[in-house]
Amino acid sequence: MNDVAKRINPDWQAAQQRLDSFLREKRNAGKEGRSLTEGLEPRARELVSGVLRHRTRLESFWQDHVKKPPKGRLRVFMLLALWDAVRGDRTQSMAQVVDHAVSQIALHCSPREKNFANAVLRKAAPQARAEWTLKKIPKGSDWPVYFSHPASLVQRWRKTFGTEATAKLLAWNNTPGQNFLRWRDPLSPPPETFVPTPWDGFYHLPDLPWPEIRVLLDSGKAYIQDPATRGVREFLDSFSGTRFLDACAAPGGKTLLVADTLDLHHRKDFQFVAMDKEGPRLMRLQENLQNAGLGQTIHLFSGNLGYPLVPQLHKAGLPPTFDAILLDVPCSNTGVFRRRPEARWHWSEKALASLAGQQLEFLQNAASAITPSGLLLYSTCSLEEEENQGVVDHFLNSPVGRGFMLEKSRLYLPWIDGHDGAGLFALRQLSK
Ligand SMILES: C[S@@+](CC[C@H](N)C(=O)[O-])C[C@H]1O[C@@H](n2cnc3c(N)ncnc32)[C@H](O)[C@@H]1O
Repeated sequence: MNDVAKRINPDWQAAQQRLDSFLREKRNAGKEGRSLTEGLEPRARELVSGVLRHRTRLESFWQDHVKKPPKGRLRVFMLLALWDAVRGDRTQSMAQVVDHAVSQIALHCSPREKNFANAVLRKAAPQARAEWTLKKIPKGSDWPVYFSHPASLVQRWRKTFGTEATAKLLAWNNTPGQNFLRWRDPLSPPPETFVPTPWDGFYHLPDLPWPEIRVLLDSGKAYIQDPATRGVREFLDSFSGTRFLDACAAPGGKTLLVADTLDLHHRKDFQFVAMDKEGPRLMRLQENLQNAGLGQTIHLFSGNLGYPLVPQLHKAGLPPTFDAILLDVPCSNTGVFRRRPEARWHWSEKALASLAGQQLEFLQNAASAITPSGLLLYSTCSLEEEENQGVVDHFLNSPVGRGFMLEKSRLYLPWIDGHDGAGLFALRQLSK
């Protein structure tokens, strides 16, 4: 083992720490809207994402070689080692990959654990590398392990979307996520390095050094945003009101999209309020609005949709009703698993039921703050019926919802649309 391999590899260390806190401590990492990989260097990010995307398949390679599966920190290091063995970079020989992994384990774990890892990895890593790219996909009952998704979710998708579509969705989720930028500056075209997409205003994230992209983001000229958000723009096409509330606004992606769609910079008569619950996300929202040059134009409001909205608006001296409210609710994120590889490990039927209950509550609390004939836009980044049409049906059958009708709806499916999945519903209040 050479001296370089015996030094702490900062990418491995950063990746190990993130994964450890996620897998071991079962922290809510990623749940509060920050991705688990946020702030990591590209190589560490790739390691964390790879392990999260392929966790159970990677673990399957050590099964035949261990009596008791590794736990805690050792488990995380062994997952990193196996991911290093199978990922695209074949410039390193298998011996080099295992030597490096064992040297890192020696620096962080006990001598016994190092010996265990050494013995297991010498067999499991070459096997994983040899079998990884074999094209044959196993039979459906093995999909949860092969595609590293919760079994109950795979089963649910096969029932809802069918076997073929589920295989496409699972494969989509395990492909490294593409990022897109929305160009915001109407006065200048985007740089020539920007590659257009089929969706107006959206570009593939250009292959530029990150500091150059950062400059564009900080100047407000561009915003990292998935084309699945474009439905909101389309649904506001004929909107002619003058009061808009974005009630689940942080960190502000859709707020900016709506503001740009409504040409807010040039509307002196317009009242735009962006709301989220008290906390760090509200601060991020404020920062993003300032970067976008909308800090003075959009009024920031800390409110809680777990309670009726009108009294909160009244207390804050804001108008009690709005011509349109956007409710981009917290959800199971099943439409964005590709970009958020940690989200699949938060999935459970119980969590889904609880989210659907909360979503209905949010809709009902927001509904009374809509002006007659106004528009309630309900949006999710979920593929699940319970969080989309299911919530909307419950709402329309509730006392407050009976005053609304479903005007139009859209469900984006990643394997068909080629971007994130999302649900969007336009609920029109019937005039009283
Ligand atoms: C899907 S995210 C919104 C993303 C945002 N619309 C965007 O495009 O950047 C859901 C938001 O709901 C907020 N939220 C969660 N519980 C809330 C509550 N009780 N009241 C208000 N907002 C809440 C979360 O803080 C989160 O920012």
